[in-house]
Amino acid sequence: MTEKHLVHDNPRFSQRSGLERDPNPASAKLAAHVAAGKRLRDLSSGNPAQVGLSLGELSLSPLSNRAVLEYEPEAFGPLRAREAISREFPEHGPAIPPDQIVITASTSEAYSFLLKLLCDPGDEVLVPSPSYPLLEHLSRFESVATRPYQLAYDGAWHIDFASIVCGPRTRAILVVNPNNPTGQFLAKDELDRLADFGLPIISDEVFSSYPLELGPGRARSALEHPDALVFALSGLSKLVALPQMKLSWIAVSGPKPARTEALARLELIADAFLSPSAPSLHALPTWLRARPTVQGLIHGRLVRNLGALTRAVKNSPITRLPVEGGWYALLRLPATKTDEEWALELLEKTGVAVHPGYFFDFDGPPHVVVSLITPEEELSEAANLLVDYVAAR
Ligand SMILES: Cc1ncc(COP(=O)(O)O)c(C=O)c1O
Repeated sequence: MTEKHLVHDNPRFSQRSGLERDPNPASAKLAAHVAAGKRLRDLSSGNPAQVGLSLGELSLSPLSNRAVLEYEPEAFGPLRAREAISREFPEHGPAIPPDQIVITASTSEAYSFLLKLLCDPGDEVLVPSPSYPLLEHLSRFESVATRPYQLAYDGAWHIDFASIVCGPRTRAILVVNPNNPTGQFLAKDELDRLADFGLPIISDEVFSSYPLELGPGRARSALEHPDALVFALSGLSKLVALPQMKLSWIAVSGPKPARTEALARLELIADAFLSPSAPSLHALPTWLRARPTVQGLIHGRLVRNLGALTRAVKNSPITRLPVEGGWYALLRLPATKTDEEWALELLEKTGVAVHPGYFFDFDGPPHVVVSLITPEEELSEAANLLVDYVAAR
């Protein structure tokens, strides 16, 4: 446990639970702003249920059925649910049969199962940086260390392979495809080079159905790799905007002996938890059938919001970075302040809330992260306020 993360040392409790828990200044200020009833223009929410993206009654109908009361515990989830996932995921890439799918209650739980499968306490995994902040916490909670490798930007994002350092206890490579919040998909040759390390690849593909400014030669799923042992993660929260229904999954591919052994071990782990709720498992096939409708709605919003953001920053000191996919856009702001100072000031002076880049471990010039699932009018208004404020400094 590094100094940075071990904040509360108390011999009564585990070291891995002693992580920083006080809200950071930006989150504390946002909470105070809301509590004071001040006008908020929120460009930070990635929660579809908060931004008017919901299936409404349609998500309830498969739940009003006596079948939801039945309970037949199955470690990987009922076959009917896994068949429905197998038809839908991955959207681009090889079909994964139902017996290579493990249903979990969240992507976080999927990570915890995979870390239990692949690592012993004190082992380490390679994680991208900047990326999804929870990777660090989820690993720590399994007593697994993270060793960051850098994503670099030179007009497009790529993996800085020189920054990948494997040690004797490195057990897996984590990728987020497309990455949150930098939005790039893996290039196919990057996937090949990652596979050459010979380590299992855990690929978080929750945003893979939302391509936007996609570059050529991208791997839409790490499952495309013919030889690597790959665990690809996805779930209802992004696929059909139903985070509250708490269902995600792991799709496993790779050489048969390793894959079979992995699935046998995962079965033991999953069987000890049996977390997914029977009503949600029952409804999953119906919810997945709504995917074209929901994704059409979300994709339309992402495209229009990206356009509005591009127009807002034109001829300003702000640069919008390309977004290959996902729900977030990055704005690079003038280096006259840190990203945290910009985020705090923007909230204070304009009521606009953005995530500062350091939440995702950005260093270098200040970046802020904007959620592209924000209601369109709100995004457009907030983006103009943000640009006017920054341009006037
Ligand atoms: C990269 C990434 N993976 C996973 C998740 C969470 O997924 P779930 O709701 O299935 O736990 C998020 C949430 O925003 C995310 O950004």
